[in-house]
Amino acid sequence: MNINDPAELHRLVRELRTTASRSGTPHTFQTTEKSYPRMPQIKLPAIETLAAELSDVIFARQSLSERDTPRPSGSFPLNSISTLLGNAVAARTHGKRGYPSGGGLNPIEIYFVGTLEGGKCPKAYHFSQNNHVLEELWETTPAALDTLTSSEHTVSRTHALILTARWGQSSQKYGGFAYYLSLLEAGHLAQNVLLCATALDVSSRVIGGFNDRAVSTLLDIWSPEEDPLYFIILAPNTL
Ligand SMILES: Cc1cc2nc3c(=O)[nH]c(=O)nc-3n(C[C@H](O)[C@H](O)[C@H](O)COP(=O)(O)O)c2cc1C
Repeated sequence: MNINDPAELHRLVRELRTTASRSGTPHTFQTTEKSYPRMPQIKLPAIETLAAELSDVIFARQSLSERDTPRPSGSFPLNSISTLLGNAVAARTHGKRGYPSGGGLNPIEIYFVGTLEGGKCPKAYHFSQNNHVLEELWETTPAALDTLTSSEHTVSRTHALILTARWGQSSQKYGGFAYYLSLLEAGHLAQNVLLCATALDVSSRVIGGFNDRAVSTLLDIWSPEEDPLYFIILAPNTL
């Protein structure tokens, strides 16, 4: 197979659909949300309703350009991150989320990296979609943040959300086809983030070309359980 041919790769992945679990009896699949119960839990403030018109927000969305926005480092306001995550990705009381998930198995995990309001240094956090809390993982440094993406993006001067896939959540039902479904789901989720960020005057840029090894090391995640999929730079314009 020619791995530089996207059409060949696509056919290969699509064929996995036919080999996915097809037992005659209906199956119940167990899913869990990743959690860090021993880490400090940062309860986020109330989620505000976004007032912006959807068509205005879609029209206004564009990628942050480092050239346009040489910004000092600053902390991310708690009410902004709460409203951003609460509208874009948090679980609703009935368990549904604002983006679809193949088989409802929710393989995507969300991490925030940056300096939160009241904090003195950048840290990595895991976002609990069910509890609307940021679970504080550990400190990082501006130098470490700049290794996460290529040199044209100085992440140390901004903040980021990182989307990962816990493959097993989805592969228990779909086998290797979970790969295809997880990528699509991350895209749905990311678009919600970009639109909510735009509505909150937070600039953003998605990055596919991040440094997998540096991101996995920072988050202490390991393949084959969990891999990073997508990197979203966030830069509030109110700092
Ligand atoms: C899947 C995907 C991956 C991307 N990866 C990168 C990236 O690695 N580095 C980067 O600077 N921009 C990346 N971008 C952002 C695009 O360069 C940007 O969306 C494009 O230039 C169009 O500009 P706009 O977003 O302002 O409309 C990516 C966008 C998408 C959809």
